[in-house]
Amino acid sequence: MSKGVKIVTIGGGSSYTPELVEGFIKRYDELPVRELWLVDIEAGKEKLEIVGNLAKRMVAKAGLPIEVHLTLDRREALKGADFVTTQFRVGLLEARAKDEKIPLKYNVIGQETNGPGGLFKGLRTIPVILEICKDIEELCPEAWLVNFTNPAGMVTESILRYSNIKKVVGLCNVPIGMRMGIAKSLNVEPERVQVNFAGLNHMVYGLDTFVDGVSVQEQVIEAMANPDNALTMKNISGLSWEPDFIRGLGVIPCGYHRYYYKTDEMLQEEVEKAETEGTRAEVVQRLEKELFELYKDETLDIKPPQLEKRGGAYYSDAACSLINSIYNDKRDIQPVNTRNNGAIASIPEDSAVEVNCVITKDGPKPISVGDLPVAVRGLVQQIKSFERVAAEAAVTGDYNTALLAMTINPLVPSDKIAKQILDEMLEAHKEHLPQFFTKIEA
Ligand code: G6P
Repeated sequence: MSKGVKIVTIGGGSSYTPELVEGFIKRYDELPVRELWLVDIEAGKEKLEIVGNLAKRMVAKAGLPIEVHLTLDRREALKGADFVTTQFRVGLLEARAKDEKIPLKYNVIGQETNGPGGLFKGLRTIPVILEICKDIEELCPEAWLVNFTNPAGMVTESILRYSNIKKVVGLCNVPIGMRMGIAKSLNVEPERVQVNFAGLNHMVYGLDTFVDGVSVQEQVIEAMANPDNALTMKNISGLSWEPDFIRGLGVIPCGYHRYYYKTDEMLQEEVEKAETEGTRAEVVQRLEKELFELYKDETLDIKPPQLEKRGGAYYSDAACSLINSIYNDKRDIQPVNTRNNGAIASIPEDSAVEVNCVITKDGPKPISVGDLPVAVRGLVQQIKSFERVAAEAAVTGDYNTALLAMTINPLVPSDKIAKQILDEMLEAHKEHLPQFFTKIEA
């Protein structure tokens, strides 16, 4: 890596790319990126060019010798990469809109990474990520794969289970978002706050919180119980928690836990929104249009503040800090998705978990938390079972396995409804699910 770092970003045409570019520019002294390859597919060509040209202007403004390459040829880009980041969306936002809308017809939560939507995003994404892993094995076997593609937990699980790639880390902005929110609610600088995170992706809990090394968990719990203060992300409703429930829970839930602990209210709100402003995918489609209009402006050479309306806030900080810590063997603590290795006692050793890790040049070393409190353990295990069965369905294209995954998801009320949703969604996403249809046709 002495000649500078080569980064390849798959799904480079994403509206989030300026986040990443800003993160690399900020850290250039420590992390000398020489080549940034933004890769996309034919359908994303126009976006790739617009966002890629903005990336080039950002780098030029910073006066740094980072070469930005734009390509539709993934294999060409991957040759000799040091880090590969993945942020693609199979089926684009149209597919997300279907994931969010179809379950609502059956009175079931429609969400990008939870419930039936999460299952289908996984079914579409996993075969593609496994193909990318094969290319990495062949073309840049030493590279680290840093995956942000959702559902990040299920995707990391699949890579661990079904590919030969060992150097993989799954990343999410939820923990850093929680830490920022906690710091704000305590009115202290985020650098002083340390949270012991453990759980799964989009199902992570803050087991304990410290300011300058002193536990402040009780204060944080009180802050969370305050209806004006309930932490959330831009893409999730901030419905307040039942204060005594939060006090009883004793650990800090993430924004996504609302889908499980407040299912009825969240569903009702989703139904109302779908009828008025549209589902989140439809809102994001409008936001993206606005963003790409801005990105086209040749005088723009910074990340526009409008990007902060997206749910992925701080994502570049999380991603670039992780890459920086691997590259420089920093041995700092960051929450990432990695092989459990016994860090959380009641989750299988070989499963992906989201947990604080020491980040070394050899990757994340999970910090053991023992077991999760009994009140949250069962839900985490159930979601892990769901993720594993879903990953198996994605790889095998087996209908019964997919139905099993759908039925055991806690947001789906019965096997009958599971089958109805499964059948409708399989048909709606047919073009992105060849593993199911080539089998049926055969
Ligand atoms: C959160 C999640 C990300 C997700 C994003 C969606 O931040 O952690 O995993 O991709 O929200 O945001 P969007 O603006 O696309 O709804």
